[in-house]
Amino acid sequence: MTEVRSVVLIADDDAMKTAVGKAIDHLGDMSLEVRTGTLSSVNGAAAQFLNDHDLLIFRLSDDADTDLVSQMRRQVSASGTLMALSDRDISLSEMRALKKSGVDEILPFPIGRDELAEQIQRLATPRSMLPTLYSQPGTRRLGQVIGVCPVRGGIGASTLAVNLADQLQGRTGTFRKRNRNRVAVVDLDIQFGTIATELDLAPSAGLFKMARDRVRPDRTFLEQCLVKHASGLEVLTAPDEFMPLDAFSREQIATLIETLRQEFDYVVLDLPRTLVDWLGAIVSSCDRMLMVTDSTVPSIRQAYRLIDFFSQERLELPVEIVVSHEKKKIFGAAHYAEAEKLLGRKLRHWLPHDPHNARIALDRGQLLSQAARGSGLSKAIRHLGRKIMQETQSVALGHAHKAA
Ligand SMILES: Nc1ncnc2c1ncn2[C@@H]1O[C@H](COP(=O)(O)OP(=O)(O)O)[C@@H](O)[C@H]1O
Ligand SMILES: [Mg+2]
Repeated sequence: MTEVRSVVLIADDDAMKTAVGKAIDHLGDMSLEVRTGTLSSVNGAAAQFLNDHDLLIFRLSDDADTDLVSQMRRQVSASGTLMALSDRDISLSEMRALKKSGVDEILPFPIGRDELAEQIQRLATPRSMLPTLYSQPGTRRLGQVIGVCPVRGGIGASTLAVNLADQLQGRTGTFRKRNRNRVAVVDLDIQFGTIATELDLAPSAGLFKMARDRVRPDRTFLEQCLVKHASGLEVLTAPDEFMPLDAFSREQIATLIETLRQEFDYVVLDLPRTLVDWLGAIVSSCDRMLMVTDSTVPSIRQAYRLIDFFSQERLELPVEIVVSHEKKKIFGAAHYAEAEKLLGRKLRHWLPHDPHNARIALDRGQLLSQAARGSGLSKAIRHLGRKIMQETQSVALGHAHKAA
């Protein structure tokens, strides 16, 4: 990109001015404006600077900076990127408070020229250039996006979503402590989402803010809203405030998916059972859509209607049917064949009815792999996870084979 990006520095320290100047010179395609002072001494002009430049860098001077940043963020909402340089030790809680108030990155000073340049490069890149989003070398991923979509309420979609995500981490090693894959789960059942409770996590306001402030959900946004679960899963929870289902734009959801795809090996989306416009963005870009149903006539009909609706969006739909609460019956052949014919695909995956273990996990706020590892339900989801990982691998190796 040859477009010149602009950076403004607010600092009262010569060493800092020199260092930032050198980093900017090194990058070449950036302009720098320097303001001598502090965030508070520029007296409210900071918000304007933030608006006018791609990146605002400031020297962290005192605790009051957190409040100033919050004020600025309120004035210019989510646009503009902020970097703080700190030449004193700051505590983890102070760092958290700063991030929460809206600072995108806090770096220690002094800092090496190359590292500073790299961070400036990353943060000054406008959000509109998202597809070429910066990732640290070696961390750029092109993850698989898997939607989990229920045909009716209470069918077990959310249970599948979180526990499948857990299995997709591909734990290995002694005590199964090492995760091979980075996995994110997003609770897009924004009105009735249960994932935070299922995992005993405090809900984040991220999705609510994304809707209210019309945020383009980039990497910085994700860093602020993803909640890490002890298992390693990174979770974007449903908001705990009520919001209308159509509060997101289709573009926002498309951006969210692409951003997640770059950061994770697998992204699992727990979907609402109501049809809403932005589902189209998911249908058209996901690698798989697991449709969770049972084999009763009304559920199969509903599955058919959903597939029909999704087909308007995309011809070759990667929909796979998951039959939940059921064991495949030996004498069900004719009934299944009829369902498969209507849906145009196999009843591919089966999850047993296992209310006892599902309940234990739910009550403890734990994953099945923790609460009921040996249970039939846990095993079936592990099996499904392995299939997906194998198929992903063989596709990556160039032996793409069609899903059965
Ligand atoms: N295979 C299963 N067998 C028995 N109970 C289940 C199963 N899957 C989920 N449940 C239970 O059913 C209820 C609804 O599950 P949930 O995953 O929240 O469904 P959904 O997201 O489709 O509404 C929960 O109490 C859950 O513990
Ligand atoms: Mg659910």
